[in-house]
Amino acid sequence: MSETVSRRSALRLTAGAIAVAAAATGPLIPLTPAAAAGRPGAGAGPRVERLLARLTLDEKISLLHGATDPDSLGQAGYVPGVPRLNIPPLRLADGPAGVRITRHATALPAPVLLASAFDPELARRYGQVIGREGRALGQDVLLSPMVNTIRTPYAGRNFETFSEDPLLASDVVAAEIGGIQGEGLIATVKHFALNNQEKDRNSIDVRADEQTMHEIELRGFEAAVDAGTGAVMGSYNKVNGTFACENKTLLTDILRDQWGFTGWVMTDWFAAHSTAAAITAGLDMEMPDDTYFGAALKSAVRNGGVAEAYVDRAVRRVLSVMDRFGLLDGSAPPRPDRDAAAGAAVALEVAKAGATLLRNERRTLPLDGGGIAVIGPTGQLPFVSGGGSAHVIPDRADSPLDAIRARAKGTVTYALGEDLFGKAVPASAFSPALASEGQEVAAGKTWEYDGTLTAGEDDEWTFVLHFSSAATARPKVLLDGEELFPLAAGYGEYFSGGLVALAPDGLGVRRKTVQLAEGAHTLRITADGGDSGLLFRLRRITGATRAQDLAEAVHAAQVARHAVLFAYEDATEGLDRTTLALPGHQEQLIRAVTAANPRTTVVLNTSSSTSMPWLADTGAVLQMYYPGQEGAAATAAVLFGDSDPGGRLTQSFPVDDDHHPVAGDPRRYPGVDGTEEYSEGIHVGYRWYDAQGVRPLFPFGHGLSYTSFAYSDPQAHWTRGGLEVTFTVRNTGRRAGTEVPQVYVGRSPDVRLDQAVRVLGGYRRLALRAGERRRVTVRVAARTLSSWDAQHHRWTLGTGRRTVWVGASSGDLRLRTSAQVDGRGDGGHR
Ligand code: BGC
Repeated sequence: MSETVSRRSALRLTAGAIAVAAAATGPLIPLTPAAAAGRPGAGAGPRVERLLARLTLDEKISLLHGATDPDSLGQAGYVPGVPRLNIPPLRLADGPAGVRITRHATALPAPVLLASAFDPELARRYGQVIGREGRALGQDVLLSPMVNTIRTPYAGRNFETFSEDPLLASDVVAAEIGGIQGEGLIATVKHFALNNQEKDRNSIDVRADEQTMHEIELRGFEAAVDAGTGAVMGSYNKVNGTFACENKTLLTDILRDQWGFTGWVMTDWFAAHSTAAAITAGLDMEMPDDTYFGAALKSAVRNGGVAEAYVDRAVRRVLSVMDRFGLLDGSAPPRPDRDAAAGAAVALEVAKAGATLLRNERRTLPLDGGGIAVIGPTGQLPFVSGGGSAHVIPDRADSPLDAIRARAKGTVTYALGEDLFGKAVPASAFSPALASEGQEVAAGKTWEYDGTLTAGEDDEWTFVLHFSSAATARPKVLLDGEELFPLAAGYGEYFSGGLVALAPDGLGVRRKTVQLAEGAHTLRITADGGDSGLLFRLRRITGATRAQDLAEAVHAAQVARHAVLFAYEDATEGLDRTTLALPGHQEQLIRAVTAANPRTTVVLNTSSSTSMPWLADTGAVLQMYYPGQEGAAATAAVLFGDSDPGGRLTQSFPVDDDHHPVAGDPRRYPGVDGTEEYSEGIHVGYRWYDAQGVRPLFPFGHGLSYTSFAYSDPQAHWTRGGLEVTFTVRNTGRRAGTEVPQVYVGRSPDVRLDQAVRVLGGYRRLALRAGERRRVTVRVAARTLSSWDAQHHRWTLGTGRRTVWVGASSGDLRLRTSAQVDGRGDGGHR
């Protein structure tokens, strides 16, 4: 059974259970021009109209929902075409970090790492890789990019999206879509909208006022529409009381009437909730099946519940995009071959460009020579991509340890430190004997074990089950009558992480921690060999094995000149984190290793921010997120200084669980009684820290280089409808390096709407040689200088004298000047 199929059944289990004003002053800026002349796909052409006239109702409906692909490549979705009229089928594949099918593809770094480069041109090339591969791998539609705002540090998909800042997110999404679609693959911006947490994502009602929505979450989607995205995916959650996939405000008033979107809107997987309400609100396609948009739609049309004009409208939107991509008249370029080498090169470049050096004391980095102890499970086992629909089967993935060995000129040792997959249980613990390191059950056979497991002392045991078959067929293990690995309800089985859910040899893994008293415990295991046989192992991690792993790591660090400790946190859609602490016993490991060797670098393979109570004990901290298939080489290149760490944080890192924008108020996060309130309003991310005067651990925009930079001579003035900010950056160190100067703009004295203390107005990624100086001009568009006026439902420019800062992060503002914003000229809206 393919993963897609098993996931569908897992999702089906839950399908049944799933259940805007202050007065403004200042000139009003017109809305984005709807359906701008010349924009691709601005209207249905004659070919589409001719087809529409010939399609039967059944054929039309078949274009509006997903179906089973007779020739599936393991992609997420399929829409059969209409062969009679030469309308080809559509294959739809995830996702954000590469093409996800059941074949190998380039596993690119997580989108958050891409955004960390602050380099839209790189995002375009990232998109190009996926665009070309998607077409080469038989796909027509990519279910990506995701542009939801990073609002809560706990959200399980923060690695799949870009930023807490709407300008940066808009720039990256627009460029990436340009790259994807330039290769002939249709992009799908997702998840529209306010899908900012995974907890209760199928049912949560997210309440946000109109100003907040437009200024924060919606800007990235609007940028995607402006960039010509062919499709939009509606989110699972409700928005202000109505499911996003049947929300007329979102799907028609904003998307169509305000932004002029002409492509089609599909649901997220199993996110449809109705037939008539959804199609009239503006939904065009149900995925991945036909619960509401199949027979139910046909009978609604037949009995007058839905006017056929709505069906025509939706079909027209789908066919228009297909026509625009040359899929209706055979004018689409032939499918190219994969270019795995080019994909790998971009994957490496992005991982290096986004690598974010958070701390570097006592010249810990770059490393020189050898005498290095590599520690941590992800030091050896490469952490390639996150879990859920963002997981890609990589072409290859090297071990960071090997990459460090290849680069170091001297000894490199390794210690596990933290055990993810368990150690063999001593044979003497089982009575009668159990082949716990490899029990095979033949196809069609059942197998049983009835015995005892004896613990030598009172201890905490983490049982680790490795199994070869589909999760649903794994063995049942009962300890003292309690089932250790029960099947999780709904999404639980599918969304179990990108790294920890699979053993290095590909077996599935589940864990369970129990307190085990000294003595004998009854153990009963039943297993079914199913159609293809079953192999399983039962391992354990105990206090004693943990102490041993810790001692080995400490010893390795003690005798080395440098320690490089890889720490992980494994995120997936469908789940949020419950703490910002690193999972397992990693904090203890970091404390012990840094105590043994202060020249310790912690490399973080984490999805988003983590708290770092151990920070002051470290020499350096390098944030690599999920670095993709070339992560090992990229990490080594940065550690040794072959590449300057050019990444900057796209989200503020909080000090701890009590000091961040959604802390302390369950209505804000994770929601109360099914409702979550965006009560921080427009003060998301660094805007909140600035408004509240709270210091984050690391501010938005932070990231160190191996060299240093000086900023000088700021000037700012209003010209051609935007602010032009000019300043000088000089590399004051002795090596070449990358700097990302950022321009922030303060409040308008003329606007009586809520305003952030300051917002990112623009940025520039610069590579400067030692001693080189560069005069830089950054343009701040009128849109960024505007507030959304909810009373008049439009943008209003923040005129008057506004403070302008230039700095190395939102917390490191080096220069200050001001400029008069007068509103003359057309400032553009991004
Ligand atoms: C995710 C989407 C994804 C879809 C298809 C859903 O669970 O939320 O992002 O595109 O599955 O795999």
